Amino acid sequence: MSDAVRELTVELGERSYPILIGQGLLGSRNLSEYVQGSQVLIVTNETVAPLYLDRAKSCFPGKSVDTVVLADGEKYKDWQTLNQIFDHLLQNRHSRKTTLVALGGGVVGDMTGFAAACYQRGVPFIQIPTTLLSQVDSSVGGKTGINHPLGKNMVGAFHQPEIVLIDTDTLSSLPPREVAAGLAEVIKYG
Ligand SMILES: NC(=O)c1ccc[n+]([C@@H]2O[C@H](COP(=O)([O-])OP(=O)(O)OC[C@H]3O[C@@H](n4cnc5c(N)ncnc54)[C@H](O)[C@@H]3O)[C@@H](O)[C@H]2O)c1
Repeated sequence: MSDAVRELTVELGERSYPILIGQGLLGSRNLSEYVQGSQVLIVTNETVAPLYLDRAKSCFPGKSVDTVVLADGEKYKDWQTLNQIFDHLLQNRHSRKTTLVALGGGVVGDMTGFAAACYQRGVPFIQIPTTLLSQVDSSVGGKTGINHPLGKNMVGAFHQPEIVLIDTDTLSSLPPREVAAGLAEVIKYG
């Protein structure tokens, strides 16, 4: 693992949280200290799961780690897919102390954050963004939500993560089109 790990803090008083940025963090960082209870549910999608799910699971030693793999695409950022997360949480008796983990791009991040904001009136969540856009933008700031047939991101909530873990190695598998979308966002910030 590279020793060039950057740690930033999003200053929000009692809700402040760290952002860890570096290479090789997935699978080598222990995130269990950010999990209050014993249960973790990693939410990801069918594209990201084969690439990074095993490494993400190993970030939570000593915890009971469960996973939900959603279909991939913006068109699945909807109630029906969100309900798959709630179904899984309830069927597997996840408590009010469970921690949700978003492993994927902005779609997975927005849906997982919203599920965490709603489940049992709010449970903690962790962001592990794997696209450039989600690393520079959507994983930070606490905006979560889903689309409605009448408008994008029309149903949602603000919910801050416990930590954002950005492993820049995940960008190596990103299609060029997605890299370009993220760079466009970086240029807009510039
Ligand atoms: N919450 C916010 O503040 C905020 C801000 C900006 C955008 N957004 C939302 O973010 C979403 C767009 O996010 P996005 O651009 O990350 O799209 P995305 O989540 O759809 O990811 C793009 C594609 O890359 C795949 N992918 C993800 N990580 C990968 C990896 N490491 N290697 C290979 N493939 C990978 C995904 O499966 C998907 O097919 C939109 O829904 C938008 O509304 C939210």
